[in-house]
Amino acid sequence: MSKKILVTGGLGFIGSHTVVELQNEGFEVVIIDNCSNSSEDVLDGIAAVTGQRPHFEKFDLREKAEVQQFFSKHEDVIGAIHFAASKAVGESVENPLLYYENNLGVLIYILQELTKKGSANFIFSSSCTVYGQADQMPITEDAPVKPAESPYGNTKQVGEEIIKDVCKVNPQLASIALRYFNPIGAHPSNEIGELPLGVPQNLVPFITQTGVGLREQLSVFGDDYPTPDGTCIRDYIHVVDVAKAHVAALQRLLDGKNDENFEVFNLGTGTGSSVMEVIQSFERVSGEKLNYRVAPRRAGDVIQAYADTQKANDVLGWKAHSSLDDAVGSAWNWEKKIRNHEKASI
Ligand SMILES: NC(=O)c1ccc[n+]([C@@H]2O[C@H](COP(=O)([O-])OP(=O)(O)OC[C@H]3O[C@@H](n4cnc5c(N)ncnc54)[C@H](O)[C@@H]3O)[C@@H](O)[C@H]2O)c1
Repeated sequence: MSKKILVTGGLGFIGSHTVVELQNEGFEVVIIDNCSNSSEDVLDGIAAVTGQRPHFEKFDLREKAEVQQFFSKHEDVIGAIHFAASKAVGESVENPLLYYENNLGVLIYILQELTKKGSANFIFSSSCTVYGQADQMPITEDAPVKPAESPYGNTKQVGEEIIKDVCKVNPQLASIALRYFNPIGAHPSNEIGELPLGVPQNLVPFITQTGVGLREQLSVFGDDYPTPDGTCIRDYIHVVDVAKAHVAALQRLLDGKNDENFEVFNLGTGTGSSVMEVIQSFERVSGEKLNYRVAPRRAGDVIQAYADTQKANDVLGWKAHSSLDDAVGSAWNWEKKIRNHEKASI
């Protein structure tokens, strides 16, 4: 039986780590990526970890004809994990149509192809942003979806709705939406990691770039929130733990163990960490003092968000294992490596 899995956006941050875990579990991986937010060099990193270079097709998934061609060429694909999307919240406010086209148009093209198959399994990258500021912590999957704060956030909500509607009338399509909390870190081999283009949107890459001197100072947006130290709280999860959850979710669908043909799981550690705690973790694992200042609150930031992971633990049989220090330490090692490479190639 075929073990071929399509991974869209497989050269990106979470996609590349998932490709490694899929290969480790014996799956044959085919990646589609247009390298709009990644590089083909990531294939070397994946091959260095697993000893296998995944099959790679470089094209833009917004090209519907190419998507159709791909599926007719790879009829033996038994599952698709769909990471490819644009993910910068601020940019989505500036250019909503780009986000609706890339994050929803492409999703529709892939679902159109999958529903032509006799059976298909689909994993979707969703986000804890769908919960907005949840009324209760930790956040369970039953917490209401709140109005989206940005077009990016809206693409995750609408994306889930699209999949749910399509699954209702296509019982042969089984889907899982994974709502990630805050993936951080890099592979322990230090062969793959996050490669943010431009100024990082997320806390940990900003911290590590400040640590290596690429950014002058980190701004902590607000220290007067109603939290123990006044800074915002998030659920930071090691990207390798996130990657392993994708394999568990896919296996659930392949084994036909899913209760419904559209299911949702939170991917987090279950523990919230404040911005100050992440800074302290960085200083602990790196031995460096971080240059930061407290700045005014930023519009749209929720006070706190951390996951109730019971459902994923019980139903997927998956649990996050890495500590905050492990994750931040791996991000730091990766940052030092990529900056050394840059220096060496100047
Ligand atoms: N990183 C996070 O904090 C986070 C949190 C919640 C959800 N997500 C979601 O997880 C998914 C993966 O995130 P990531 O952090 O790995 O992002 P990433 O930008 O590192 O990876 C996405 C990959 O998709 C590719 N891509 C984008 N549009 C494409 C297109 N039209 N055709 C072909 N390839 C295309 C990019 O080149 C990139 O390699 C995204 O859907 C994102 O919205 C990420």
